[in-house]
Amino acid sequence: MTELRGKRVLLREWRWSDEDDLVRLAGDRDIWRNLRDRFAHPYTHEAAQAWLTQAIPHGVGTNFVVEVAGQFAGGCALHPQEDVYRHSAEVGYWLGRPFWGQGLATEAIQTLSAYAFAQFDFARLFAGVFAWNPASCRVLEKSGFVLEGRLRDAVFKDGVLVDQLMYGRLRDRT
Ligand SMILES: CC(C)(COP(=O)(O)OP(=O)(O)OC[C@H]1O[C@@H](n2cnc3c(N)ncnc32)[C@H](O)[C@@H]1OP(=O)(O)O)[C@@H](O)C(=O)NCCC(=O)NCCS
Repeated sequence: MTELRGKRVLLREWRWSDEDDLVRLAGDRDIWRNLRDRFAHPYTHEAAQAWLTQAIPHGVGTNFVVEVAGQFAGGCALHPQEDVYRHSAEVGYWLGRPFWGQGLATEAIQTLSAYAFAQFDFARLFAGVFAWNPASCRVLEKSGFVLEGRLRDAVFKDGVLVDQLMYGRLRDRT
């Protein structure tokens, strides 16, 4: 069972008992607005069960709950890519609103990135941030990711087109 410890955050695997906390925190529209549409809104118990069915791990951990002082705070994950992109992984993350603004997402992404490079043979981690989300850009910048480009109008979210900012961090250099 994979558990990753930061100073204040613990990244641990998902459990069936996370369902109620997940529904309570993930239903926030400002979380949904910054993630893909497959992240349900409203976030129902059915959505939580569907997520847990595939997130509860079978093998090496890539999908984690972010826990803070023993409390469920959110989620983060590595999404390994395929084919010619197989030495890359996408990083995804969200925290419940009570946990924002305390440096906790930064700690989670720093912890996840160190694990990703130590445990797997990824050459590159990346994330695509909707251009209206400066807090997420800061999380990545503080975690050693650099802005690599802007995909203009790449995302259709919440009824409008928005640019996607691409951030990357390499194993050996920023
Ligand atoms: C984005 C998110 C993960 C940030 O989590 P967090 O724990 O508050 O992040 P941190 O506290 O580690 O860092 C946030 C940084 O953004 C900055 N920030 C916050 N709002 C900002 C704004 N409107 N403009 C500019 N910077 C902002 C903070 O000041 C902080 O930077 P600093 O340490 O240099 O002061 C969280 O808000 C969230 O889950 N949002 C919804 C889901 C999401 O956006 N996921 C990422 C998808 S790419």
